[in-house]
Amino acid sequence: MTGRPRAVVANLPAYKPGKSAEQSASEHNLDEAIKLASNETSYGPLPSVLAAVSDGAGLLNRYPDHRGSEVRSALAAKLNVENGQVTLGCGSVGLLQQLFLAYIDPGDEVVYPWRSFEVHPLFSAISQAVTLAIPLKDQAFDLDAVSRAVTLKTKLVILSTPNNPTGTVCSTADLKRFLESVPRDVVVVIDEAYLEFVTASDVEDPVKAILPFYSNVVVFRTFSKAYGLANLRVGYAVGNVEIISALDKVALPFLVNGLAQAAVLASLQPDASAELKLRVDEIVRERSRVTKLLTSAGWPVTPSQANFVWLPIRTEAGPLFQALEAKGIVTRPFEGEGLRITIGTPEENNRMVNAIGTC
Ligand SMILES: Cc1ncc(COP(=O)(O)O)c(C=O)c1O
Repeated sequence: MTGRPRAVVANLPAYKPGKSAEQSASEHNLDEAIKLASNETSYGPLPSVLAAVSDGAGLLNRYPDHRGSEVRSALAAKLNVENGQVTLGCGSVGLLQQLFLAYIDPGDEVVYPWRSFEVHPLFSAISQAVTLAIPLKDQAFDLDAVSRAVTLKTKLVILSTPNNPTGTVCSTADLKRFLESVPRDVVVVIDEAYLEFVTASDVEDPVKAILPFYSNVVVFRTFSKAYGLANLRVGYAVGNVEIISALDKVALPFLVNGLAQAAVLASLQPDASAELKLRVDEIVRERSRVTKLLTSAGWPVTPSQANFVWLPIRTEAGPLFQALEAKGIVTRPFEGEGLRITIGTPEENNRMVNAIGTC
């Protein structure tokens, strides 16, 4: 071991990203494979956004605007909040890391439902937080149990809704009831990485329905999923100015690159919104088609509000992942828990459904 890393770092498991299509194809001697493992969009960047990014490449020699002022103003105007209520991050996961940096001392308590996004235990361990991972009930959050887990030592609660990997959501009424039970000095993150795919009628926009009433809530969103910009790494936080300013204080200089900033500005234009709607509608249609096909083939599928489906098949997850990978389809197994499959294009989904039928 070179140097003397903190004990907590020496014992840390590395973050495991979804396997790439190329790696799987080469391991199985296949000509090609498709990746349905990381909840990316298979549709590529939006055409109007791609053009803005290409134009921005001429300025690669210059540092970007550190504060991303133009982007923040554009987002604030769109969300109808003050400029100081919005900040940008290196993906929404970068914002979560900043939140830990700004709020969590060793021994502070962090509460989250589990299974959820795998960075929650990782960031908690790095911060030496005491974690309370509250088991799901019927694949969804048990907000009453989360509420009971909050103590005077709790600094942070993380709620990803839709949840990764189960695709379940919290209704606005349930969130409000939960927030009523939480002391106002506990920061609650509502992580909406999959917001654009939500069709449930009992989920309202938390920026309008929750933020004005709960100053301890911060909402995280991303351009990685529906907008097809995962490679650029950009997300945003919206909430109380004090939380946003704490996030800003611990940010790396020039955190969000200029191409990402140009892409966000273009994404907020009417052209891009129209392009986005077409593809989101198709993914939502495909999600229900895939759910029906898999269910009628006998697989348990948790109804999803995201761009993926979850099969809570426990010990079968590993073998099914292997069998699909051998057929050129890369999914995401959670050993002993289930298999997550990203909704791709109709052709990719057909290929996946046909392959799973022969497993
Ligand atoms: C629930 C959840 N939040 C956040 C993220 C991270 O997104 P970003 O690319 O914006 O960091 C993911 C990505 O998989 C996710 O599933």
